[in-house]
Amino acid sequence: MELSPFSYEFHENPYPTYKWLRDHAPVYRNDELDFYALSRYRDVFDATVDHETYSSAKGTVLEIDPKMVEMFPIILFMDPPRHTRLRKLVSHAFTPRRIAALEPIIRALAQDYLDRIVERGSCDFVRDFGALLPIEVISTLVGVPTGDRTTVRELTDAALHREPDRPEFPESALAANSELVRYFFDLIADRRTHPRDDMTSLLLEAEVENEQGVKERLTDFEVVAFCNLLSAAGNETVTKLLGNAVVLLSRHPEQRRKLVAQPGRIPDAVEEILRYWPPAQYSARTLMRDVSLHGVTMPRDARVLLLTGSACRDEREFAEPDVFDSDRRNDIQLAFGYGLHRCLGASLARLESRVSLEELHARIPEYEVDESGLERVHMSNVHGFASAPMRW
Ligand code: HEM
Repeated sequence: MELSPFSYEFHENPYPTYKWLRDHAPVYRNDELDFYALSRYRDVFDATVDHETYSSAKGTVLEIDPKMVEMFPIILFMDPPRHTRLRKLVSHAFTPRRIAALEPIIRALAQDYLDRIVERGSCDFVRDFGALLPIEVISTLVGVPTGDRTTVRELTDAALHREPDRPEFPESALAANSELVRYFFDLIADRRTHPRDDMTSLLLEAEVENEQGVKERLTDFEVVAFCNLLSAAGNETVTKLLGNAVVLLSRHPEQRRKLVAQPGRIPDAVEEILRYWPPAQYSARTLMRDVSLHGVTMPRDARVLLLTGSACRDEREFAEPDVFDSDRRNDIQLAFGYGLHRCLGASLARLESRVSLEELHARIPEYEVDESGLERVHMSNVHGFASAPMRW
């Protein structure tokens, strides 16, 4: 059995591969692509919280080259103390108060998109809703003007796209990324002269103490990299979560009806959707020392994939892991990562998905996804649908 994160066939259904890995190769080695992979829940969890051994500083997707990491000073690709400094600073922009204040905006957006489709009797849920809402929300937070949001979304999609079986960034992805960087440099140049009540202005102004106790600001490049990361992280993953939600709730109409009758159950259902099909299927790390596990020694500097998608289906941790059960209690949510790099946008993602499902079910309580029309995205570690035709 082979694990290839770039195989389109693998994207269709990675779960049989994961099961094989957990049972037969819990420390899997891929010589061709030069990586190890951990697939059991306990191993993925332990590695995720041990940032001293499992470093993020050389990038967290397999295809990234360390030179590119230097060009993109993003928080996701940092270890302490650099990570601590940046995380402290950007956390100011993600306070519970700031996130909660977005609820009326998210609800109004959801209502507007649904009002446009409700009389039609059918739609493509991803194209007509799931892809639209998250970019609007994150753009509101970051300060991307309305007229630029579709472009930013299309560039982010293109920057994450990967060709079949090619473990590298396609030219089109690199070009899209350069364009995003240029776009955000222009945006911050504007915010330096015309600050507004948005995250970009806040990040340009914010000061944080370095290790010497000296207050310093983020560099322009750090702000650009953060805005760029947010438009990808805040957009792609939530779109996948929303698409996954309607596909799973269409497959399980009895569970959907329960949620329609008792919307208070939606947050638990969202946690189960995240466990069942995590939008971010793995995070890569680089070893800072030799690690021996299950009889295999992984050497220092080795690349290790922490397979979240597999961990969330580990029968050693979950009862009947392949059963989708919206009543299941998921106390620890590995789909958002854990420890130092736990997702900064988790509460926003939860808010967007709760409000979206509340509004969808209020208008369209009965629906069916036409699974023959499902199309997947092909990204390195983000799995989900590009298209989900649905009727009611
Ligand atoms: C369903 C939606 C989402 C999922 C599944 C998700 C998943 C994740 C995961 C797994 C990580 C940790 C990666 C690692 O350990 O290497 C992470 C980190 C991060 N996420 Fe999310 N995310 C989601 C939504 C969002 C949103 C809406 C935002 C922004 C508003 C966001 C911003 C971030 C940032 C900035 C980090 C880096 C944190 C750090 O390195 O300290 N994410 N996310």
